[in-house]
Amino acid sequence: MSPAEIEKWVSDAAKAFAAAGDLDSLKSARLAHLGDKAPISLASRGLGSLAPEEKASAGKLIGEAKAAIAASLEKATEKLEAERDSKVLLEEVVDITLPVNRAHRGGLHPITIIKNEISDFFIEQGYSVEEGPELESGWLNFDALNIPADHPARTMQDTFYIEPVDSGMVLRTQTSPVQIRSMLEHQPPIYMICPGRTFRADELDATHSPVFHQVEGLVVDKGITMAHLKGTLDNFAQAMFGPDVTTRLRPSFFPFTEPSAEVDIFFNGRWIEWGGCGMVNPKVLATCGIDTDVYSGFAFGMGLERTLMVRHNVTDMHDIVEGDLRFTRQFGVGL
Ligand code: DAH
Repeated sequence: MSPAEIEKWVSDAAKAFAAAGDLDSLKSARLAHLGDKAPISLASRGLGSLAPEEKASAGKLIGEAKAAIAASLEKATEKLEAERDSKVLLEEVVDITLPVNRAHRGGLHPITIIKNEISDFFIEQGYSVEEGPELESGWLNFDALNIPADHPARTMQDTFYIEPVDSGMVLRTQTSPVQIRSMLEHQPPIYMICPGRTFRADELDATHSPVFHQVEGLVVDKGITMAHLKGTLDNFAQAMFGPDVTTRLRPSFFPFTEPSAEVDIFFNGRWIEWGGCGMVNPKVLATCGIDTDVYSGFAFGMGLERTLMVRHNVTDMHDIVEGDLRFTRQFGVGL
């Protein structure tokens, strides 16, 4: 155990520590050069067996060497820890300037929300919710509803006719043909509504859209009177517009109801036209094979866009058809 030997342990340790690429390899280097079995540790333990006169100087040499090795270990540790820390900072860096994911969560369109509300309201009262095709026969859309070919009501509703011209098919101008379908399919009692899409050859403007929605209601049973119609419309209006809303019926004309009325609501301090209604024309009942001596019925129909516009004070139809999320989201996602 010469001073040169001790010197070599010190420089070997320093080299090994400096060569360690990371803290794990530094740990193995520490065990090799400063651990129990390292030459310096063995030498330290061997001091006891030296002659007293050698002990002091050898002890000093070994003590200094140990301190030197510990110092180079500390230097290497500090360097590797700093490297590890800056690596972690780099790897875990969050770039707050990156653009966020701008995809908004989807949701139901307000027309769908109101359609669901209406369906829930009537289902609770035992009505069924029916559907009919959007591509409808002219007979069901017009004739069976007592609107013959030369009837002015036929031109009142600007119809999309389907090619070839003699196909007899139209895009339904109203949900009323679904009344006929129900009566042809089921015997009374009938309590049904039909919300759905309807089509008219109108330009899109603030109050019109060529594609819009209606909800139709039909009740056929024994002893049905206009009082039942009025009560049903009152409840329906209150469900849509709030408990304080009142309705009034104004005499009107529809070929498929007799008598017919417009239903108005008193909402936000004024009377607003909401839809049409009446007692089902016995001619229509008879066309569907219903015994008019036994049964009578009422029907009503209103626009969903109109209902939405009145209720939420929407002044431009474009907002409803365009599907801009800034508009739609105001109604909640409705999911
Ligand atoms: N179908 C009519 C329309 O589009 C609305 C309507 C009026 C429906 C009276 C009805 C009703 O069921 O009884 O203008």
